[in-house]
Amino acid sequence: MTIPDLRIDGDRLANRLAELARIGATPDGGVTRPAFSAEDHRAHDLFAGWLAEAGLAVRWDAAGNLFGRLPGADPAAAPLLIGSHLDTVPNGGRYDGALGCVGALEVAATIAGSGLTPARPLEVVVWSDEEGWRFSGGFFGSMAFTGTLRPAMLDAVDAQGTSIGEALKKWGLDRATVGDAARHGPLAGYLELHIEQGPMLESRGLAVGVVDSIVGLVGLDVHLEGRAGHAGTVPMALRADALCAAAEAVLACERIGRAAVGVTATVGTLSVRPGASNVIPGACRFSVDLRSADATTLWRCQEAIREAIEAAAQRRSARATIAPSMQVAPVALSERLVAALERACARRGLQAPRMGSGAGHDAMILSGIAEAGMLFVRCREGISHHPAEYAGPEDNTTGVQVLLDAALELCGTAS
Ligand code: GLV
Ligand code: MN
Ligand code: MN
Repeated sequence: MTIPDLRIDGDRLANRLAELARIGATPDGGVTRPAFSAEDHRAHDLFAGWLAEAGLAVRWDAAGNLFGRLPGADPAAAPLLIGSHLDTVPNGGRYDGALGCVGALEVAATIAGSGLTPARPLEVVVWSDEEGWRFSGGFFGSMAFTGTLRPAMLDAVDAQGTSIGEALKKWGLDRATVGDAARHGPLAGYLELHIEQGPMLESRGLAVGVVDSIVGLVGLDVHLEGRAGHAGTVPMALRADALCAAAEAVLACERIGRAAVGVTATVGTLSVRPGASNVIPGACRFSVDLRSADATTLWRCQEAIREAIEAAAQRRSARATIAPSMQVAPVALSERLVAALERACARRGLQAPRMGSGAGHDAMILSGIAEAGMLFVRCREGISHHPAEYAGPEDNTTGVQVLLDAALELCGTAS
């Protein structure tokens, strides 16, 4: 198949990434754009302007997902979707999600600017609340789009006491109609470009890799209820210290993660109530993030962690409540899209290994309703979710070029 030789404008890509990084910029070079915050909205607005400037038809759906559509010669044909997310973790990096969004925009803008018409529509998408730490547990927009949102995700409240319903309202969205985002036609596929967030490509001296699978992910929201009391008067033997129970549980999570092969287990948040130096901790709340590429291992470790938390609570005379905040099985990505990305790499003379992703991505959610594929770009020292996250302009341009070539092949061209 002959594919038109269109070229990505690397300078425009880099400039747009830099402009986005100024929204929510932190003093040490990172970015904080919590999902459904004012900063997140400013980033989406800026991006919507770029979509319109490229001549794409812009629309938002009921879950805050943002789309820009380049029409195809056959308007009724299923669109190819390409995109990622613009929200970030607290003091996160400038490329996680942003590269995939700006890259997708540049792909569509380059095709639109060339005068070529794709045979089928091409749609750029920015998924809302991918990171999940503020409210939902993650993948809010893509789960709404795929009809897999769990009802509890619509009841989430952030650490400041703002409900997701209130935050949605500020975005002009209605909690009651978020499910409407699932009303859409079939897709021809979904492609996502992302920084690797790990060290594999850099260690092999390669700019890009083709993702063939994504780890499964379990999130748990754990509450331990002990008994608060006076730090000076309640004897050690008579306490129900929730923080001590949590400490045992946290270390058990780490032990379980270390003992299994290819598993990560992380406790990333922990809060103590009432939180005073002279009061015995009466209650504790913490998160568990558990991942594995193997479903059986993932579910087995989840069970072991639940049992360890219950046992720690019991030893400390506390009560444990464990609620799932995320349950996504590992996925294999589409062989057809993996092969298309590999062909696109080969066309540009790039050696691109197949690799698994240890990070979660909207592509894993989309794979429930459509064929999904992903391309990784090398990032410095594998650092991500950190202000030092960095992916160089040449590698980024290379990744977006591969995305463009693959999108051209998968959409076909009419003229
Ligand atoms: C998304 O960034 C994840 O937590 O993997
Ligand atoms: Mn991330
Ligand atoms: Mn990401």
